[in-house]
Amino acid sequence: GVAAKIAPSMLSSDFANLASEAQRMLDCGADWLHMDIMDGHFVPNLTIGAPVIESLRKHTKAYLDCHLMVTNPLDYVEPLGKAGASGFTFHVEVSRDNWGDLVQRIKSKGMRPGVSLKPGTPIEEVYPLVEGENPVEMVLVMTVEPGFGGQKFMPETMDKVRTLRKKYPSLDIEVDGGLGPSTIDMAASAGANCIVAGSSVFGAPDSAQVISLLRKSVEE
Ligand code: DX5
Ligand code: ZN
Repeated sequence: GVAAKIAPSMLSSDFANLASEAQRMLDCGADWLHMDIMDGHFVPNLTIGAPVIESLRKHTKAYLDCHLMVTNPLDYVEPLGKAGASGFTFHVEVSRDNWGDLVQRIKSKGMRPGVSLKPGTPIEEVYPLVEGENPVEMVLVMTVEPGFGGQKFMPETMDKVRTLRKKYPSLDIEVDGGLGPSTIDMAASAGANCIVAGSSVFGAPDSAQVISLLRKSVEE
């Protein structure tokens, strides 16, 4: 199968101690660090942007998996590239007309392009981006409405993951929202291989144990 990537969502960390929280997650076995960038417009919450990514980059070589919950992702390409972001995942709902140009620019800044979709957005909308001349390298299927950590996993989104995995056997498929020990098997058996987990990892007494449990479920 496709390699498992476990990506703790730093949205659930103590932002006042971001560098040490990031290191703690890597020490616990995290593959990637998931960075939720929100603009207070695409979603009703406001988090971090390129300046924080730039600061964190000075403390770690880790893969920074940036999830752009913003209305104008194009505006973030240059600053995030400079800041040292690794992955740049934008939302299809705001990029229906300019995704070709967007993907090209993301690549030209040395970042790995991904596309995300909200629970209500049909999976067919991402097909052209996966099959295009300048394809995205990951699809992030949201398993909650984007905006906040700690929400309940929506099992009905698994149909999209299954459809995608059947169509693209080697694609990176990421899931985000409400993932933890009680929901991971649904996501893993549907075909997800990149797992974002915020509250279940940070809220557990033993984060390393949760990370290894998530990994085992994907690799089974
Ligand atoms: C939600 C974010 C998620 C969130 C996940 O909009 O995209 O990355 O932090 O948090 P949990 O795992 O707590 O649902
Ligand atoms: Zn996210």
